[in-house]
Amino acid sequence: MPTITNIDDLKRIYARRVPKMFYDYCESGSWTEQTFRENTSDFDKIRLRQRVAVDMSDRTIATQMIGQDVSMPVALAPVGLTGMQHADGEICAARAAEKAGVPFTLSTMSINSIEDVAGKTSKPFWFQLYTMKDEEYLRRLIDRAKAANCSALVITLDLQILGQRHKDLKNGLSAPPKLTLRTMANLATKWSWGIEMLSAKRRDFGNIVGHVKGVSDPSSLMAWTAEQFDPKLDWAKIEKLKEMWGGKVILKGILDADDAKMAAKVGADAIVVSNHGGRQLDGALSSIRMLRPILDAVGDQVEVHLDSGIRSGQDVLKAVAMGAKGTFIGRAYIYGLGAMGQKGVTAALEVIRKELDTSMALCGERNLKDLGRHNLLIPEDFEGRWQD
Ligand code: GLV
Repeated sequence: MPTITNIDDLKRIYARRVPKMFYDYCESGSWTEQTFRENTSDFDKIRLRQRVAVDMSDRTIATQMIGQDVSMPVALAPVGLTGMQHADGEICAARAAEKAGVPFTLSTMSINSIEDVAGKTSKPFWFQLYTMKDEEYLRRLIDRAKAANCSALVITLDLQILGQRHKDLKNGLSAPPKLTLRTMANLATKWSWGIEMLSAKRRDFGNIVGHVKGVSDPSSLMAWTAEQFDPKLDWAKIEKLKEMWGGKVILKGILDADDAKMAAKVGADAIVVSNHGGRQLDGALSSIRMLRPILDAVGDQVEVHLDSGIRSGQDVLKAVAMGAKGTFIGRAYIYGLGAMGQKGVTAALEVIRKELDTSMALCGERNLKDLGRHNLLIPEDFEGRWQD
């Protein structure tokens, strides 16, 4: 195994190993990709305060997310089509998360099904829900997650309709890939991916194919979302879903203080400040810029997590020091998964763990729970001044 020292090492291997269609799916934002880019570049604007001559022994980065013990405040985010990045990708990622002591979130739009993942793991994972028009199907999906002992329902609120990602349209993204001359030419250079994929448990949307009727192209994410996702999702429906589930609920995709207040009002256990990795509303502000106004609005009422833009342990440190109780990584672990399967996800988590721990020590802190805004240097107009 090559020496992996940072997330970019994994990304380089990932880019070589995985078909272009799936690399592009992961590595795109919507439209101009401004929000996608700023999610990471805004993290760079925040700096850390170096403190010295502080006892650095006995450090801990362990904490809790929604009352569950985690070895560090980093969950694996729900990512669609993960099982196309590597054979049995969701199972590999869930097993790596379990070993690392962090939560894994399975996407509704996964390749491995809820039951596939439950059958290959021993600790409860979280299930991410997209709301579909078909109420019957929705109810069954929630019951399946309950039967699999999932310990939280993560309801995504920012994707009732799909933001346009140009590359996916141009590549003809589908699961499994359709064999056109162009995709075949690319697949021919990705033989190790292909050989492993031949023995994968599944190559289509495991939670959906065979469970829902009436989709024109069952291999297309675009067709699923356009034809099945519920464009009428509103706060009343969220309350109903919460009741149907009856367990812990995390509302993901909050980027505005007023929406955060609504989420707190409906009794969410946590919210995820997120712009879907810059894949939905291009032109929206980065998650890290929106974190403080949201914390100021609801930080004392609901647990606040953050995703979109985290590629290092220093990024996790910045979000936590600003006040987030947890973070989610998506691309950072997908690079590892595509590069080397379960081992790669473990490598990504270990890179982030080490960066977080060492940086925390160099900030003069020994316990993650003592991190705060006193550790950060935040530019004066970081959140921006906007006209009324
Ligand atoms: C789905 O969640 C996507 O962002 O493609």
